Amino acid sequence: MKPPSPAVAAMPVLVVEGLERAFGGVRAVDGVSFTVASGERVALIGPNGAGKTTCFNLIDGQLTPDEGRVTIGGTDVTARPTRERARRGVGRTFQVAASFASMTVRENVALAIAAHEGATASPVGAGLGAYDARADALLARVGAAELAGEHAAILAYGDLKRVELALALAGEPRLLLMDEPTAGMAPRERGAMMDVVSALVRERSIALLFTEHDMDVVFAHADRIVVLDRGRILARGAPDAIRADRRVQEAYLGTDDDTPTDR
Ligand SMILES: Nc1ncnc2c1ncn2[C@@H]1O[C@H](COP(=O)(O)OP(=O)(O)OP(=O)(O)O)[C@@H](O)[C@H]1O
Ligand SMILES: [Mg+2]
Repeated sequence: MKPPSPAVAAMPVLVVEGLERAFGGVRAVDGVSFTVASGERVALIGPNGAGKTTCFNLIDGQLTPDEGRVTIGGTDVTARPTRERARRGVGRTFQVAASFASMTVRENVALAIAAHEGATASPVGAGLGAYDARADALLARVGAAELAGEHAAILAYGDLKRVELALALAGEPRLLLMDEPTAGMAPRERGAMMDVVSALVRERSIALLFTEHDMDVVFAHADRIVVLDRGRILARGAPDAIRADRRVQEAYLGTDDDTPTDR
């Protein structure tokens, strides 16, 4: 691949401006603007119902905003469908499709690679074997090499999350959206998962937007944090600034009496 020109490299991969989306009377997302650049990890945090998942859905095209704009790689995609955004480099971690539950993990990843390349490999056909080596390499990269021969249907939750990451990477995303990538994982497993994600973001200059309720994970792995509360941006900044922000503590982190206030 040709290296991007300096002008392209400096441009944020994702720009959202004035996003609004209501469901009935609920203003789920109410005037949200932020950017994510190549190689940057931005955490979108906030209490339950703050509008985080709705933001992800507006960015990948599952939802259309009532107002505002989504720009990916310099192109306004606000009115464009999910598949076009995927072609432009938007990847999202998702559950393994139920219809492929009978396939092995390797076959699922091989199919995702084939789909990305526009190959017409049938899920049950022999053509997928051509992608096995690359599927295995991706699985190894996310720490799931030993799962390659397992059937996707029987995976434990944490294993499924790693496989979802491999599936998203098969699409060679330049913007990766991860909605609670470590939900349901044990604390140790969470750190390991996010270490892999952070390393991939660096290696591949991926722009990462992730949501996470575990604040230790957020503070350890975000370059910048955007705090949502009832659809609006309450605060934004570097982890240290967010940790110290009184409004954030009150709205989200809790003004915990059991924690020293001079941290
Ligand atoms: N499809 C929908 N139909 C109706 N209301 C919705 C829909 N999706 C989200 N909402 C509402 O919009 C608000 C924001 O929801 P959203 O799922 O974006 O929050 P969230 O920040 O992802 O929360 P959580 O941390 O619990 O995942 C909530 O009040 C929710 O009930
Ligand atoms: Mg959510």
